Amino acid sequence: MNTDAWFDFSDHVVLVSGGAGGIGREISRAFAHHGAHVVVADIDGGAAETVASEIGTATPAQVDVRNGNAVETLIAETCHQHGKIDVLVNTAAIYVRVPALELSETDYDRTMDINVKGTWLMCQAAARRMIEGQSGRIINYTSNAGNRGSALQLAYNASKAAVISITKSLAVEWGHTGVTVNAVAPGPTDTALMAPAFTDRALVESFAQRIPQGRLTPPDVTVGPVLFLASPLAGSITGHTLYADGGMSAT
Ligand SMILES: NC(=O)c1ccc[n+]([C@@H]2O[C@H](COP(=O)([O-])OP(=O)(O)OC[C@H]3O[C@@H](n4cnc5c(N)ncnc54)[C@H](O)[C@@H]3O)[C@@H](O)[C@H]2O)c1
Repeated sequence: MNTDAWFDFSDHVVLVSGGAGGIGREISRAFAHHGAHVVVADIDGGAAETVASEIGTATPAQVDVRNGNAVETLIAETCHQHGKIDVLVNTAAIYVRVPALELSETDYDRTMDINVKGTWLMCQAAARRMIEGQSGRIINYTSNAGNRGSALQLAYNASKAAVISITKSLAVEWGHTGVTVNAVAPGPTDTALMAPAFTDRALVESFAQRIPQGRLTPPDVTVGPVLFLASPLAGSITGHTLYADGGMSAT
């Protein structure tokens, strides 16, 4: 193995869903820094344009990951413009914070549609192209909340458990194709996603106390695991969830 090329993503096309978000932006920047052309895809097309123009070697795209036709069009246009997709990182998600007794069907369905169905649709559409080329890396964002119970976030936790399950099932089904499918699970991170929870400073303090490293996960901390899972170093890793949560999942 040529170790010089471990984190060289030159000539790679990387698509980041939720690429304009707190974590997606950091991932987009990091891949571009390591030579990739990045497609910054987000439901907020204006924010995707801002991130892409900050990066330079990036293309913005507006997409709603719940919409199969829109996802298919995004993947087709990416392949048409750039020839292929080497890496797909799925970060698009929402978070609803409400007592289980008050959770509406609408919020439950919206969470599942974006976080679960959206992840599956993106994986399916990208993998069709990756499997043709017999290579590809898919990295899905889950959460340590997908592996534990916590009050007020039933739909979110269930959706993130489903992302872990999807990751394992696709890794098994596509194991022989050259496509790997893994997940990264951050702990609580101060981004727009968590605004409904983080207005409660006592809650932030209690999170920090439960995290062995004693701090929330900085938004850029999960970039390392993503670059690693996309690199030649991780060629035999598939179906794995890598926790980058300051040790919270170990408690
Ligand atoms: N922030 C945390 O504490 C935390 C913790 C664990 C896991 N995660 C996971 O990390 C990932 C990124 O989270 P974040 O903190 O950057 O959130 P964020 O809210 O900052 O970013 C999410 C992005 O997804 C986009 N998005 C929402 N719905 C979409 C849709 N239907 N189609 C396309 N794009 C859509 C949003 O516009 C936004 O830019 C998520 O999967 C989240 O579940 C976050």
